[in-house]
Amino acid sequence: MSQKPLIIALSKGRILKDTLPLLKEAGIEMTEDPSASRKLIFDTTREDVKIIVIRATDVPPYVQHGGADIGVAGKDVLMEHGADGLFEPLDLEIARCKLMVAALKDAPPVSGRLRVATKFVNVAKSYFAQQGRQAEVIKLYGAMELAPLVGLADRIVDIVDTGNTLRANGLEPTEMIATISSRVVVNRASMKTRHGQIQEILDQVAKAVAARR
Ligand code: ADP
Ligand code: PRP
Ligand code: MG
Repeated sequence: MSQKPLIIALSKGRILKDTLPLLKEAGIEMTEDPSASRKLIFDTTREDVKIIVIRATDVPPYVQHGGADIGVAGKDVLMEHGADGLFEPLDLEIARCKLMVAALKDAPPVSGRLRVATKFVNVAKSYFAQQGRQAEVIKLYGAMELAPLVGLADRIVDIVDTGNTLRANGLEPTEMIATISSRVVVNRASMKTRHGQIQEILDQVAKAVAARR
């Protein structure tokens, strides 16, 4: 092999589970079950490709700064991180959901400053600013749905799929911010220096995505 292996960054959970069948179409399969291992970097059936398994929110910085050449991340995570140093060539149409504002069921409108709890601080700030609404944004790392129940916030900004989590906590969606799916991101420098190798993988994965429609 002439150069170091290409590194693909995936996150544990639904992105790993839903991306592996698509990578298989490009001849890339993990040779070990990552959930049965403490390893973080894995060989694949292609000698020139390795897969790293990291947190979803760490995929954009890994790819941006060249720790990985390619990654898969939710559009929500990409919106929050920003597009600096990242090329976004392909929508994998997996992990589909919506990024929404939600509130306690039948919550009255808030006059004045809205308290918003979310892990998507940048998205929330720009969304409410765009609407000309004053918002104090409280950064959380999970269980956003709890915040309105205990009086920590008037609204949350979070991922909604079936709506079950909102309903189970007496909340309802109030505004839609964006429809979300997972995207392939590529390091801008890698896209130039390893164009042939990366484009070949992208083409085959794109074909697998199209075949599912
Ligand atoms: P995390 O551990 O960061 O929550 P997840 O695997 O739950 O990671 O989410 C990865 C991505 O999948 C998110 O960035 C989002 O785009 C999408 N996602 C999150 N929750 C859901 C859901 N309930 N249904 C479908 N897609 C989801
Ligand atoms: C995600 C998200 C919501 C929930 C929405 O959580 O953070 O809580 O899914 O899905 P629903 O509308 O179908 O209920 P996830 O399942 O990823 O759990 P997590 O807290 O571990 O991220
Ligand atoms: Mg999650």
